Amino acid sequence: MRPTPPLTAVVGALPASVPFVGPEALERALGRPFAARIGANESVFGPSPAALAAIRAAAPEAWMYGDPECRDLRTAIADLHGVGIANVVCGVGIDGLLGTVVRLFAGPGTPVVTSHGGYPTFMFHVRAAGGVLHEVPYADDREDLAGLAERARAVGARIVYVANPDNPMGTWHDAEAIRALRDALPDDTLLCLDEAYADTAPAAAIGPLDTTDGGVVRLRTFSKAHGLAGLRVGYALGAEATIAAFDRVREHFGVGRLAQAAALASLGDPGHLAATVARIAEARARIEAIAAGCGLATVPSAANFVAVDCGRDGDHARAVLAACAERGVFLRMPGVAPLDRCVRVTVGLPEHLDLLERVLPEALAAAG
Ligand SMILES: Cc1ncc(COP(=O)(O)O)c(C=O)c1O
Repeated sequence: MRPTPPLTAVVGALPASVPFVGPEALERALGRPFAARIGANESVFGPSPAALAAIRAAAPEAWMYGDPECRDLRTAIADLHGVGIANVVCGVGIDGLLGTVVRLFAGPGTPVVTSHGGYPTFMFHVRAAGGVLHEVPYADDREDLAGLAERARAVGARIVYVANPDNPMGTWHDAEAIRALRDALPDDTLLCLDEAYADTAPAAAIGPLDTTDGGVVRLRTFSKAHGLAGLRVGYALGAEATIAAFDRVREHFGVGRLAQAAALASLGDPGHLAATVARIAEARARIEAIAAGCGLATVPSAANFVAVDCGRDGDHARAVLAACAERGVFLRMPGVAPLDRCVRVTVGLPEHLDLLERVLPEALAAAG
């Protein structure tokens, strides 16, 4: 036996825990598959038939790397947003792009600001880079934009990360409020705006792109309403110089050939996207009704999930979550108080929500 060579000082100091335990691991522990996989904010409504056809057509070409410039896909994205191709960079989902953003703007000791209990992948990358996280509590189940701006100025943050709509609560701010946050930040602070749920958000939440502002990067994904989470494609939009910087450190072959083909075809099928967005809205309303039927409140959501308030503390919500899992329903929940009084239910097919309707009262009873 020879020992593991020394890790870097930053990595050596990190906890050995795994930040995301996948539903597959939970199924292995449970000894059977979940009957309703409605916890990971995927789109059970699936990809566009055009995307499936593109994947099939590209499958024999899987021996080739994808175009490292993602040129065709970036061209289509640029057309969609009315910007130039130089304003777009593709990456391995938003999660991968967050890692690139952190590598570009934060190193050991760099102050960075985000919300306490917000989407954790950004924090994961910051910790791996040795950055110093400053976390601002949510206010009324929403990310506290004024609080984030104030903390960013106080600590000299180099990145402020906000998700709009956010995960895990699904709440959102109007574009004007995001604009005010941007205006309140100093020139040497990057606003990293995660718009994973832009497709399901009200139009008023998604402001126009300003490609003259080098201090904002906006992140989008094909994982949600496009139904392509398993292929790992996302993109960043921003000013040319900011986007060009990604080329210095990004994983150039990260977006595979099939993923590029599928995302491109999905952009060419806006009808499927619109139909999926409508199904997501219907499913959200059904989840709200199921919760109400159990006497539980829900948090208004603009995402593909609903936070259901279990009415007590985190221990109680964790017990509800575990009881649902034992009954074949996979959910997730926020990690910190007071958000963790909720369980987070991703939209599902009618049969998944039928099962939720049966299981939730039992789970609440089992949780005591
Ligand atoms: C706010 C937010 N950002 C990013 C992601 C991950 O996106 P991707 O699959 O593109 O990495 C998620 C997924 O749940 C999310 O909720």
